[in-house]
Amino acid sequence: MVESLTKLKARVDDYLAANLPKDIDQDTLAASMTYSTMAGGKRLRPTLTLATVLTLGGQLTADVMRAATALELLHTYSLIHDDLPAMDDDDLRRGQPTNHRKFGAGMATLAGDGLLTLAFQWVSDNHLAAPVRVELTKKLAQAAGPAGMVAGQARDIENTGHRLSLDQLRYLHRQKTGALIHYAVLAGGIITDQPAPVRQLLVQFGDSYGLAFQIYDDLMDVVGTTAEMGKQVGKDAGEQKNTYPGLLGVAGAEDQLHQALASARRTQAELARVTGKSFAAYDDFLAYFKL
Ligand code: IPE
Ligand code: IPE
Ligand code: MG
Ligand code: MG
Ligand code: MG
Repeated sequence: MVESLTKLKARVDDYLAANLPKDIDQDTLAASMTYSTMAGGKRLRPTLTLATVLTLGGQLTADVMRAATALELLHTYSLIHDDLPAMDDDDLRRGQPTNHRKFGAGMATLAGDGLLTLAFQWVSDNHLAAPVRVELTKKLAQAAGPAGMVAGQARDIENTGHRLSLDQLRYLHRQKTGALIHYAVLAGGIITDQPAPVRQLLVQFGDSYGLAFQIYDDLMDVVGTTAEMGKQVGKDAGEQKNTYPGLLGVAGAEDQLHQALASARRTQAELARVTGKSFAAYDDFLAYFKL
């Protein structure tokens, strides 16, 4: 039986609270890294890995928790840097002042650097089988790095003020947000040593879900509230960011979101058919999108 999302999230929160302080050896840096990591956050990426591991018959050992939770460190780094004055210049994140607002841009940059690096420590320094650790490390680097999330962020800032086509925008979203979610799902398949066809379906689910996730984030910037998102909304249009509602209007963006979610649901059903397991745990993740 796969645990509820609430329970998986609590496991991630507990793991982070117990283990993050152990690996930082400078007081202000520790305060800054812990501040953003423990400020809240849905923990969607590591819980996607954990739910996938359980669905495929794996156990949530301490080593699996360490490898899965590494992704939350990396994601938190991406948020701290995304908020910096030289990037999106935001004041509120996870319902609190952004890291640079509290610690200054220099320390915020270093907190991000520390979280990024520590993510690779956690994913490689554990007792999972060596080939599993090597593959997780490689796939995480590919997802987070200059052909993945960082490339998407580069496209984002470079094209601010220049209107992208829908194909270009989809590509940007798949990189900046889709790549880490792709990895989150795939990691569950790597940890449980799935055959190639199952891994292929896992990444297909992650890709559709990841695209949906950024379309929804774009939509919430238009129709959501600061209270529910924990960050300032209504900024993207004024800053001429490339977003789905900016390009297609709210209804057009909702239509694209529905298409991405329909595709994710089809892959969820295919995963159940191919593996003979219930992928009902993914329903909780699909329920995140409230329209
Ligand atoms: C925010 O991610 C950044 C995007 C990729 C849209 P989340 O919406 O997962 O943020 P947290 O982790 O819950 O704060
Ligand atoms: C996703 O884009 C950011 C990352 C990949 C870190 P946004 O810039 O839209 O994310 P928010 O809205 O600030 O969370
Ligand atoms: Mg951004
Ligand atoms: Mg931003
Ligand atoms: Mg956004």
